[in-house]
Amino acid sequence: MSEQVELIVEGKSIKLPVIEGTEKEKAIDIAKLRSETGYITYDPGFKNTGSTRSGVTFLDGELGILSYRGYPIDQLAEKSNFIEVAYLLIYGKLPTSAQLTAFEKEIAEQSEIPSNIGTILNGFPADAHPMGVIGSLLSALTAFYPESIEANPSPEALHKLMVRVIGQLPTLVATTYRKSKGLPVLAPRKDLDYCSNFYYMMFAEAGKEYKADQVIADALNKLFILHADHEQNCSTSTVRIVGSSQASLYASLAAGTAALWGPLHGGANQAVIEMLEEIKNDGGDTAKFILKAKDKNDNFRLMGFGHRVYKNFDPRAKIIKVACDQILGKLGVSDPVLTIAKGLEEVALSDQYFVDRKLYPNVDFYSGIIYRALGIPTEYFTVMFALGRLPGWIAQWKEMRDDNEPIGRPRQIYIGETERNYVPIDNR
Ligand code: ACO
Repeated sequence: MSEQVELIVEGKSIKLPVIEGTEKEKAIDIAKLRSETGYITYDPGFKNTGSTRSGVTFLDGELGILSYRGYPIDQLAEKSNFIEVAYLLIYGKLPTSAQLTAFEKEIAEQSEIPSNIGTILNGFPADAHPMGVIGSLLSALTAFYPESIEANPSPEALHKLMVRVIGQLPTLVATTYRKSKGLPVLAPRKDLDYCSNFYYMMFAEAGKEYKADQVIADALNKLFILHADHEQNCSTSTVRIVGSSQASLYASLAAGTAALWGPLHGGANQAVIEMLEEIKNDGGDTAKFILKAKDKNDNFRLMGFGHRVYKNFDPRAKIIKVACDQILGKLGVSDPVLTIAKGLEEVALSDQYFVDRKLYPNVDFYSGIIYRALGIPTEYFTVMFALGRLPGWIAQWKEMRDDNEPIGRPRQIYIGETERNYVPIDNR
C-alpha cells in the first residue's frame, strides 16, 4: 500500500497520501484536507508548499544540486550553449544537430520587432529603468500579435509564439538601450549566433565592421544557461499563476519580469554591484558592512547572500565565481570590486551569524562583476537575468498548460475586523 500520513484534527483521524518525486522528494497531498476537515494550511512565503509537479528543473538545496531535465548544471554550463538549453527546457530533450540548427534559424528569423515598438519607446523617459520598459514591451507584444491571446493555441501556434519571443527579447532590450542613449538602432544580424547578435545590437558602432568576440559570446552563453531556470522561484511562480488564468504567454512573461525586478530576487545583481561600490567608496572596510548586515536595527542585507532554497551552497555561484576570474582574465579587465567581493565572501563565510543562518553567496554575487566587465550598464543587469530566464519561464508556462493545472488561487486566514455596521459619513 502506498505511503500515507495520518492527521488528527479535532479528534478525527484522516489519512493523507504521500507523493514521491523521481529524486525521492516527498510531499503530503492535502488536496482533500479542507473538504474533509474544514481546515486549510498556513505557510507564509510558501516555504513548505509544493505548488506543482514539474519535470523541468530539479534542485536540492541541502546538497547544492541543480539539474535541467535531469542534466547537471555544471555539464550544461561547460558543454552546451544557451539555445540548446532553451530547447532542452521547453521540449524536454536535447535536440539533434538538425533540430538545433532549425531552432536557431527559426529564432533568428523571428528576431525583428514591429517598427511601432520604436514609437512606444519614444514615449518613455530616457532614464526609465529598463526592467519597467521591457515588462511593458513584453505585454505590448499581445497587441501586435493578437493571436497570442487565443486561450487554446495549437502546438504549432504555441511553438511560433515561444520562438518569436526568444528571438525578439534581445532586440527589444538592445533597442531600448540604444534609444535611451540616443544611438542609432541596429537591426538583428541573422548570421550571428544568439549571444553575439545580442551583443552586436547593444554595442556595435553603426556603419562600422563588427567582429564577434568568442570570449564574450561564451561568457553570455554561460551566464544565460546558469540563469535559464530555477524551478518554482518568485518570478516563475508568477508566470505560472498568471498563465493559470489562461492569460497569454506574453502577458505572463511580462508579469514574470515584474517579479524578477525586485532586489530580493533578480534585482539582486544590480544591488550587489551598488553595494560593492558603496563599500569601495567607503574605504573598502568589509568588516563594517558585515556588522551592518548583522544589525537587526539596520535594514541593510548583504546583497547576493542567502537563498530561500540553497542552505549549503548555490552550485551556480560556484561556477560563476570560477568563470568570473577566467572571463575577466581573458578580457584583460581588473575590477577592484572583485577583490572586495572575494574579501566580503571570506569574512561572511567564517562569521557565526552567516554560518548559523546558512547564508552563502548566491548566483547574483559574482554575475554583476562579469556583466560589468562585458560593458553591460548596471541597470541592465536584471534585464540580462530576464534574457537568461526566458526559456525557463516559457517551459514552466507550457508545462502548466500541458498539465491542465487549475487556476492558482491560494486561500487566507482572515484577521481583519468583524461584525461592524456601516456608519453614514456625517456620523463618523
Ligand atoms: N544578509 C543578512 N542577513 C540575512 C540575509 C542577508 N543577505 N539573508 C537572510 N538573512 C537573515 C535574515 O535576517 C534572517 O535572520 P533571523 O533569522 O535572525 O531573523 C535569516 O537570515 C533568514 O532570512 P529570511 O529572510 O527568512 O530567508 P528567506 O529564505 O526568506 O530569504 C533571500 C531568502 C530573500 C534570498 C534572503 O536571503 C535575502 O534577502 N538575500 C539578499 C538578496 C539576494 O541576494 N537575493 C537574490 C536571491 S537569488 C535569486 O533570486 C536569483
